Amino acid sequence: MRTGVRRPAFLSAAFAFAVVGSFMGPATHAHEVHGNTATTLGRQVVQRANAPSISPAHSTRALYVLHCAGCHSLDGSGSASARVPDMRQLGQFLRVPGGREFLLQVPGVMGSGLNDEQIAQVTNWVLSSIASASIPSQHRDFDASEVSQARRTPLVDVAATRAVLVQRAQGLGLHIAQTP
Ligand code: HEC
Repeated sequence: MRTGVRRPAFLSAAFAFAVVGSFMGPATHAHEVHGNTATTLGRQVVQRANAPSISPAHSTRALYVLHCAGCHSLDGSGSASARVPDMRQLGQFLRVPGGREFLLQVPGVMGSGLNDEQIAQVTNWVLSSIASASIPSQHRDFDASEVSQARRTPLVDVAATRAVLVQRAQGLGLHIAQTP
């Protein structure tokens, strides 16, 4: 009886080692990127502990879709109920002193996790596509150094700063819609 008890215990230990071993095999390749699949927006990477925090995107439109459109909508029209402003007339801000830097300083942009170059790219993309009808003729593109400068002067009160810009626009005979 005693050997009969010992044998299954030994066997189950061996079985356990075999099972653990079979799981450990693939784990030795854990540093590899799994599910690195091309999609229309970029390469899809399956989440893992050391995954990059930014989804790799291979076009500026993809940056917009992945990091902005969830709140701003694909067409930039925003959402009145969520108080997300319509960006289709965004170029109006470029005509008002302080408006150019405001476009970079808003929390959705500064806190997007995108780097300076990507923020310049996505902001230029928004202005030249969604808001193209509203940009002034002498407009020049944003670049990474301008984004880096904007990071050094964070907005303390977004709503108050925006209200000042709306007022300045009115003083110049321009129209910027109130926050929805
Ligand atoms: C989590 C939702 C959210 C995300 C994501 C987001 N935004 Fe916004 N955005 C807002 C809201 C809300 C406002 C209104 C100002 C505020 O309350 O911050 C705003 C304001 C803005 C403004 C100023 C427009 C105006 O009329 O005042 C710009 C420009 C802007 N966002 C660009 C972007 C870009 C570019 C991205 C992507 C990199 C982005 N946002 C991502 C929610 C978001």
